[in-house]
Amino acid sequence: MIVEQNVPLQAHNTFGIVAKARALVRVRGEAEVQELLADPEYGTIPKFVLGGGSNIVLTGDVKPLVLKVEVPGRRLVEDGPRATVVEAGAGENWHDFVTWTLDQGFPGLENLALIPGTVGAAPVQNVGAYGVELQDRFESLDAIDLFTGKTFTLDAGQCAFGYRDSVFKHTAGQEGDFGLNGRALILRVRFRLPKPWKPELGYLDLQRKIQESGIAQPSARQIYDWVCAVRGAKLPDPRVIGNAGSFFKNPTVTPEQCLDIIAREPNIVHYPMPDGSVKLAAGWLIDACGWKGKSVGNAGVYEKQALVLVNRGGATGGEVVTLARAIQTSVYERFGIRLEPEPVVI
Ligand code: EPU
Repeated sequence: MIVEQNVPLQAHNTFGIVAKARALVRVRGEAEVQELLADPEYGTIPKFVLGGGSNIVLTGDVKPLVLKVEVPGRRLVEDGPRATVVEAGAGENWHDFVTWTLDQGFPGLENLALIPGTVGAAPVQNVGAYGVELQDRFESLDAIDLFTGKTFTLDAGQCAFGYRDSVFKHTAGQEGDFGLNGRALILRVRFRLPKPWKPELGYLDLQRKIQESGIAQPSARQIYDWVCAVRGAKLPDPRVIGNAGSFFKNPTVTPEQCLDIIAREPNIVHYPMPDGSVKLAAGWLIDACGWKGKSVGNAGVYEKQALVLVNRGGATGGEVVTLARAIQTSVYERFGIRLEPEPVVI
């Protein structure tokens, strides 16, 4: 086990914020974690699990011991008559893994192409895009308990997936006994890709691609290419402009609240949900408040998609948080809706 001191984290968070880890250990498997837990100096100190850093805002140096998850590996677990099950180490890059599954001839994850981050971080926020959420393709995952060093496996039910939510985002004791935040380090994730493959084309942007191209029955590879093109046109590439994807969740309201807002704002973008609630497009709400292209210091609102906050170069976590609060205030004052941030502020 090697404990690195004062490690720069700029390359390890997609916002590209400058900060350091006071101490950092790279985790390639359960053995490192067990060794760490047995260590008299580091065993019991607070720890922070870092994946691809695609969903965090660093507001200063990280004081807890950073466990940088670098568990490698991609493999076919089972190619059965009704599904293909594939597995990846938590440290694998998410998009490279999606590409690999298609290269192997295992379609099913194509709508989730180009989402920044790692395989291990994907279940934490139940990533989703273009009509598919991780939970729709999830089989199970292996994690290690950072208190006991024991490895355990969770199925989808045990992960308690919700919209950009899971058991890994909740802290035990804060909401009853529910929650593995700060306790579980995800090692490997398995995905169930149903057979026969069915394209998921319900999302408006994909319908547009069908119209434009005249391809009514696209292959999985075609959908992958379309998703990459749509994301590329709307969302900033974190390697070029630092960002953490959507900064806020799309809020849900009751049908009555929605009617009330529509009476005042007839153009509001809204989607009825299966449970009767109505989801509002947070990007539209922020855009309507005039935030597109605005900045606080070096943190800004992306010109092509108001839901994405960006680092215009040298932004601090404090600037990002100040901008986010100002947006929340103006959306609340105009629409009476509280936007909930997606990334974790550290
Ligand atoms: N809109 C505006 N102005 C804006 C941004 C959006 O009017 O500045 C409108 C759009 O015109 C559209 C609606 O809002 O009618 C929704 O926009 P979009 O289709 O871009 O999707 P989104 O709701 O903003 C969500 C996810 C994205 C995911 C896309 C596609 C959340 C918080 N975000 O964005 O996920 O890629 O749908 O499925 O659910 C992420 O979580 O990091 C992320 C990028």
